[in-house]
Order: sequence, then C-alpha cells, then structure tokens
Amino acid sequence: MLTMIRDIAAHVGKEVKLGGWLYNKRSSGKIQFLQIRDGSGFIQGVLVKSQVSPEVWEKANQLTQESSLYVRGTVRQDDRAPSGYELDVTDIEIIQVADEYPIALKEHGVEFLMDHRHLWIRSPRQQAILRIRAEIIHAIQDYLNHNGFTLVDPPVLTPSSCEGTTTLFHTKYFDEDAYLTQSGQLYMEAAAMALGRVYSFGPTFRAEKSKTRRHLIEFWMIEPEMAFVDHEGNMKIQEELVSHVVQHVLNHCRRELETIGRDIAPLEKVKPPFPRITYDEAVELLKKEGFEFEWGEDFGAPHETKIAESFDRPVFITHYPTEIKAFYMKPDPNRPEVVLGADLIAPEGYGEIIGGSQRIDDPQLLEQRFQEHNLPREAYQWYMDLRKYGTVPHSGFGLGLERTVAWICGLDHVRETIPFPRMLNRLYP
Ligand code: 4AD
Ligand code: MG
Repeated sequence: MLTMIRDIAAHVGKEVKLGGWLYNKRSSGKIQFLQIRDGSGFIQGVLVKSQVSPEVWEKANQLTQESSLYVRGTVRQDDRAPSGYELDVTDIEIIQVADEYPIALKEHGVEFLMDHRHLWIRSPRQQAILRIRAEIIHAIQDYLNHNGFTLVDPPVLTPSSCEGTTTLFHTKYFDEDAYLTQSGQLYMEAAAMALGRVYSFGPTFRAEKSKTRRHLIEFWMIEPEMAFVDHEGNMKIQEELVSHVVQHVLNHCRRELETIGRDIAPLEKVKPPFPRITYDEAVELLKKEGFEFEWGEDFGAPHETKIAESFDRPVFITHYPTEIKAFYMKPDPNRPEVVLGADLIAPEGYGEIIGGSQRIDDPQLLEQRFQEHNLPREAYQWYMDLRKYGTVPHSGFGLGLERTVAWICGLDHVRETIPFPRMLNRLYP
C-alpha cells in the first residue's frame, strides 16, 4: 500500500512507501536531500550515507529531475521543513531515470513553457492553480446544488447561434452545417421551463480573433437559468454565488494561495451586497476620469478596469444599451433603449466575469428581434415555442470559469487557468 504525501501526518514515526517523482536534489557528500513529489504534495527525503546500504546511496545518486521512483522511509516531524515533515529514506526503487528534463529549475520564457504545457503543469505553481480551479468548480456546484438548481447538459454541436454569428466555429454535421456551442443558454431556457432552476457547466467555443489576456478560444462556462426570477433576483443569486466561491477558496486553498503568492486581503472583502451602477453612471464616471466615450459604445478592458477601481468588490454594471446586447435580453419597460441585464466586473483589473439578463418573454417582441437581428426564423422555432406554451418571466447568466480563476488566483493571463489552453495561435499540445 502506498501512502500519499497529503496524509503523511498520520504516519509520524512509522515506515511508509511513497510513489513519486524527483523534483530536486541537494547533496553535501555525506547526506543527500531528495525533494519528492507525488501529486498530492511535496516532501524532503533524507539519506545519510553512513546509515543506508551502498546500493541505496548509489540509486539516489542516479536520480535526475523528474525520475520516477518508489521510496521507503520513516516519517519524522520537522518544524523547519516546509511541509512540517521529512522522510528518513531507507530504500529506493527506481522506476525510470528520466531523460534530461526540459524545464530546468530556472526561469523560462512563456512560449517555451506553453510548448511544454504537458510538463509545465507538474510545477508547484501550476499544480496549485489547477487545484484552485477544481475547488472553484466544486464550490460553484455546491452552491447551486444546495439552492434548488438541477444540472442539465446542453449540446455542444448546434445548428444556430446564441451570441451572434461572428464568432461561430463551423463544422459539418454529415450534410448539414453545424457549429460548436457559443453558449448553452437557449437550451437552458427550455430546461428552466421544465425544471425551474437549472445550470449547465461545459466547454464553450468562440472563434474570436482576440489576443488578449482575457480571451480563450475554448473556455468553460457555468450557465444558470431560472424561471420566475427577474433582473434583480438574478443579480442577487450572482453575488451570493461569487461570494460563496471566494470564501470557499479562502477556507480550503490557503496553501495553494500562498504557493502562488496571492494577496488575500482583496478577496476577504468579497461579500454581498455588490455595488450596482447603471451603464449611464459608468459612462459619467469614465468621462470624469478623462476618457472620451460616446453613449452607445461598449466598454473595453481599460474602461472596465477604471470602473472597477472605484469599488472594493465586484461591481454590476446594469442597463446597457439594447443595441449592443444580445437579441434575447429583455428591454426595460420604462426605457426600452436599455436592457434588464448586467455584467459583473471583477476587481483588480480582471474585467467581466459574468454576463446575464432577464430574457424576453413576450412572443411578439421576440418575433420582432429575430427580424431586426436577421436570424433564420426556422432554426429558432423551438425557442419561440417556449414563449407560446406557458411563457414566464425568467433570467439567467453565464460565469466564465477561466476569468474567475485568473481573478481569484491573481494571474496575469487566462492561459495558466486551464490545463491545455486553446488560444488564437495555439492548438499544441
Ligand atoms: O457575456 P457572455 O458572452 O454571455 C453569454 O454567453 C450568455 N449567453 C450567458 C448566459 O446568460 N447564459 O459570456 C459569459 C462569460 C463572460 O462574462 C466571460 O466571463 C466569459 O463568459 N467569456 C470568456 N472567457 C474566456 N474567453 C473568452 N473568449 C470568453 N468570452 C466570454
Ligand atoms: Mg458579455
């Protein structure tokens, strides 16, 4: 039976066997220090030449970076060790002496690391980020599952668009044209009419020619959709969900946050309620800050960053111009030139992490929008049916997982938030 390093505290004074890889090695001639990782953690193994057999000493000598091995030893508590424990090594079984490892323990350029992403994910920092990503997913599902939402999986291959046709990934579906999903929302609306409160969690594809630190071609989105919930109720769920996620990471990922050097003070402030400002107020704010900005334009990254600077937690920007938002958003009945929707902008310059809105529930208005947006009516017949057979007020949103991970981890770029990023110039590895 192998012991995992994460469970090592339960084995103090006992002999254990670990399976792992050599991360690093130091030697003083009489003592060798082996940094061993097993995926669940890191531990230092200590070999004293006078206390092990010459064979074991020689095996330790042969180990190169990332060599794989089984190691046997006695667990010792040591408050000076980073993990709090060390292993007094008694035996080593080499599985493979690794070839010269490309990612030596020094600085490398980002493109080089990206080309070796399959190996880069072994580094302590990348491991920590992937673990935080998994905890974020866990926290999202935990919140939604406990608040009456049912997980529903929309299709990945679709016959039509949700967010506009410019960023669709085209493919053939036998003799028909098909597209990789941009958003499962329209299907989630159907699911909400069946199950009340639903959410999806899956990959999303956008053929966006954007090469920014916030854009991926393939990213993961969580899309809740709720019957009988309006624009206000929608924002309330979002601020509760996001706060729950941040608090969960603070409670469960302290060591990982430390490994990546995240300042947690800004995260500790993330609690409901989040501030809300209208698009109009945001435009005023930008003008006061010296930006040239016309009502009706969409915000870019510098605008979002400036707006976020005024607040110590995520901020909702509400009531965007109807013109610049998707066809399905419900116009404000008092002011139809703006919509009952909001983007949630993360603090510290991370930009939009959520887009959401109340949906059009009136069949006639939806008909009109299909025409205005030049959408092929037949492809959306089923979506129209949702307004014919018991239409109700409903709302939903999409939370971008990678942007959320980038913000919570404090990363410069979304490329480190996903195991194998798909970007404008990268489909390898
Ligand atoms: O604002 P978006 O485009 O909204 C929708 O797709 C809606 N149909 C969602 C819904 O209401 N069910 O995308 C939602 C979020 C953005 O706020 C952002 O966090 C993320 O998805 N996102 C991206 N993340 C990484 N790379 C990209 N290219 C992204 N595009 C959007
Ligand atoms: Mg958006």
